[in-house]
Amino acid sequence: MELREIKDRGGEVFVVKSYDGINFPPNVPGNVKDHIDAVKNMKYKEGDVFFATFPKSGTHWGFDIMYMLQNGKAEYKTGNVSAVDFQDVSKLEAIKSPRILVSHFYPQHIPQTVIDKKCKVVYIYRNPKDTVVSMHTFVKRLNIESIKTYNGTWEDFVEFFITHDLHYNSWFQHIKSWMDFKKKNPDVPVLILSFEDMKQDLRKNVQIIAEFLGSKQDPEFFDEVANKCQFGAMSKAKSTNTEELSLSKDGSNPFYRKGDVGDWKNWFTVAQNEMFDKVLAEKMEGIDLEVKYTL
Ligand code: A3P
Repeated sequence: MELREIKDRGGEVFVVKSYDGINFPPNVPGNVKDHIDAVKNMKYKEGDVFFATFPKSGTHWGFDIMYMLQNGKAEYKTGNVSAVDFQDVSKLEAIKSPRILVSHFYPQHIPQTVIDKKCKVVYIYRNPKDTVVSMHTFVKRLNIESIKTYNGTWEDFVEFFITHDLHYNSWFQHIKSWMDFKKKNPDVPVLILSFEDMKQDLRKNVQIIAEFLGSKQDPEFFDEVANKCQFGAMSKAKSTNTEELSLSKDGSNPFYRKGDVGDWKNWFTVAQNEMFDKVLAEKMEGIDLEVKYTL
């Protein structure tokens, strides 16, 4: 593992832990390798769901929806989500089943049991323009060692995001790796959903997830889960989640901001949008995925 400092155009330093071709955030434990080796060897528990996202794509949103569905109760998860990337494997192994193992890892770093046991995999993606807006604010809100010092401007960050491998390398590489995983592992059930579709019709997507997970099929329960997982209700409930609040500089919950589709229009200049679209056109070639930028 190599601790690397990547500088944006303005000279602001972004710290990553480089291992096996991927730039991880500095809060992935230790030298990364030992943690990943332990993750790869994690034991399977009946009912495990592996939930993968690129950062800022609605990880916490998807987690609570699945948590409610798995438990058959429209009650929020308290404390931290069970994050494979950051938590000690002994802690993850201690979680009672059914577990939702949430991660931003690439497929080559996930538990081998996901493939061997044909574990259910959910992947949520979000359009990269809203993702970069969300990430810029998020990074600056965080009070995590080696992340909290980054103070780049929006102008520098938008260019940085598209030209450099930041945390978990690039949005494009991540999406492609998980699409490839689905193709290469036709026996593993993989559900791919978009943030935008969930935003457009949450109730419908709650039902899609419930059907995929094989959880309780009850229209009233789906209504309840969808209501509890609307942005307003969820961000209010999570504003007292002390574990998550402790991660931010200002005592707010850094995982909740606006929860909108299309907020990027308030941030991108015409020139930034043109630059982004040009790179998108190149990098999305051959990736068969609908990406919505507005609703
Ligand atoms: P914004 O910064 O655009 O508001 P992650 O959990 O992967 O870190 O993603 C965080 C993003 O998901 C934030 O986006 C956050 O506001 C949004 N989000 C969280 N809960 C949501 C919900 N219930 N509905 C819509 N968006 C939600």
